[in-house]
Amino acid sequence: MLGQFITLEGTEGAGKSTNLMFIKDWLAAKGIDLIVTREPGGTEIGEAIRAVLLNKNYTAMQAETELLLMFAARAQHLKEKILPALEQGKWVVSDRFTDATYAYQGAARGMSFERIAEIENWVQQGFFPNTTFIFDLPIEIGMARVASRGGETDRFEQEKHDFFEKVRSAYLQRASMAPKRYTILDASQPLEQVQKAIVNRLEEMMLAVEKMA
Ligand SMILES: Nc1ncnc2c1ncn2[C@@H]1O[C@H](COP(=O)(O)OP(=O)(O)OP(=O)(O)O)[C@@H](O)[C@H]1O
Ligand SMILES: [Mg+2]
Repeated sequence: MLGQFITLEGTEGAGKSTNLMFIKDWLAAKGIDLIVTREPGGTEIGEAIRAVLLNKNYTAMQAETELLLMFAARAQHLKEKILPALEQGKWVVSDRFTDATYAYQGAARGMSFERIAEIENWVQQGFFPNTTFIFDLPIEIGMARVASRGGETDRFEQEKHDFFEKVRSAYLQRASMAPKRYTILDASQPLEQVQKAIVNRLEEMMLAVEKMA
C-alpha cells in the first residue's frame, strides 16, 4: 500500500482548509494521484452526521453522543472512502481526523483518553495517519481570522477561550508522544513560511515512498 494518509489538525482559523488546498495542488503538480476530504464528513452519510454535530440548536447534545457520532462518521469515511483510495495507491489528505477527537471530545469535553482509544481501536483496527500536520497558533489569532473570514459560527465555535486552550495543548501533547508522525507548524507565521515547512515534510514523505517502491 503505497498511498499515504496525511491529516491536518489545529484549532479554529489555524489554516487547515487553506493549506489542504495548497497540499492538494503541490502533490498534484508532482504527479501524485490524491483525494482530499474532511472530518467530520467526507461521505454522504458522514456529511449528514456532520450537520447534526455542528448544529448549534443542539445545545442538549451529550459529550458521549458527540464522541460516538464522530466515530460513526469516521467508520463510514474509512470504509467507504479512505481505505479504498489508499488501496488504489492514492494519497489521502484529510482536514481533521482522530487527533481532533482526542483534543476536542477528550481534552476539552472531558471524555477519557482510554475510552477514546478503545473506540479508536475498534473502528480503526490499528490504522492511523502516516503524517499529521499540527497548525499551532494562539487561540486569539485564530479567532480573529475566523471572524474576518466571516460566515456563520457552528456549535463548536460557540465554545469559550478555555475550551480551545485545552484543544491546543492536547494537540501539542499528542505530537510530543509520537514526534515522528507529527509536524508542528507555527501557524501564526505568514502563509509562505508555513507552506515552506509543509513542503519540507512532503518532500521527505515522497523520498521515503520512493525508497519503499
Ligand atoms: N498563515 C496565515 N497567515 C494569515 N492568514 C492566514 C494564514 N493561514 C490562513 N489564514 C487565513 O485565516 C482564515 C482561516 O483559515 P482557514 O479557513 O484555512 O482555517 P481553518 O483551520 O480551516 O479554520 P476552521 O477550523 O474554522 O475550519 C482564512 O481567511 C485564511 O485565509
Ligand atoms: Mg477549515
